Amino acid sequence: MSSILRRTIASSLRAAPRLRPAATGSVARPMLAPARFQSTFKAEDQPRIRIGSVAPNFKAITTEGEIDFHEFIGDSWTILFSHPADFTPVCTTELGAFSVLKEEFAKRNAKLIGLSADSLESHQAWLKDIEDTQTAGKKFDFPIIADFDRKVSFLYDMVDEEGFKKLNQGIAFTIRNVFIIDPSKKVRLFLVYPASTGRNTAEVLRVLDALQLTDRSGLVTPVNWTDGQDVIIPPSVSNADASAKYGEFKELKPYLRFTKQPAK
Ligand code: BEZ
Repeated sequence: MSSILRRTIASSLRAAPRLRPAATGSVARPMLAPARFQSTFKAEDQPRIRIGSVAPNFKAITTEGEIDFHEFIGDSWTILFSHPADFTPVCTTELGAFSVLKEEFAKRNAKLIGLSADSLESHQAWLKDIEDTQTAGKKFDFPIIADFDRKVSFLYDMVDEEGFKKLNQGIAFTIRNVFIIDPSKKVRLFLVYPASTGRNTAEVLRVLDALQLTDRSGLVTPVNWTDGQDVIIPPSVSNADASAKYGEFKELKPYLRFTKQPAK
């Protein structure tokens, strides 16, 4: 992010709590406690998260009560996605959009859990604004972690380089990550966005479909694939095995073979 954009965003966030009640008519946001950023993090204590590593467990306060993250995951896929701060415009649209799609995720045995680096009281006030403006009156009904001390943000390395150096001081960029975690608690995919760029909910559903398809069938997905389109037979499968397992396939090159997506 350019330093000009960074400064603009940081100063608008600093100004926001004072402007917010008059500007939106929403419930007044509780003032940010200055102590919020005073905990200390050490880079060497941060776990290295890779695709395939076990998602670090944590306990946290959420808008739906206290959770142990691994217990929360249970036997479901889980989408953990994070936000830099409450009462911010991009995050407001994102949380609303995920909430509207909750049933789509549930059809895929996937739970949603948000995180924002603010307090529980602040989250509860903010949820009213999200329901007012984004969900067409539908109740917002998945938990948001109150990561006011940024413990989970630190655990999952959700900040950029500059934000990491200043994690104990003020606004930390980016904290706009998506982690897809499977029922065995393994991290299967993560996406990281700068604070200035809203995510794409269709992409999150698309990659979840792709991961689940591969787990079910051993097939892999080409560029821009969406559910229902032809899929790829991986090179590790011989032609004989491919015929036996997937039926007809089209060979463009020995290593590039397409077949119909099998029925679910
Ligand atoms: C937001 O609108 O969600 C946002 C924008 C910049 C920084 C942090 C959050």
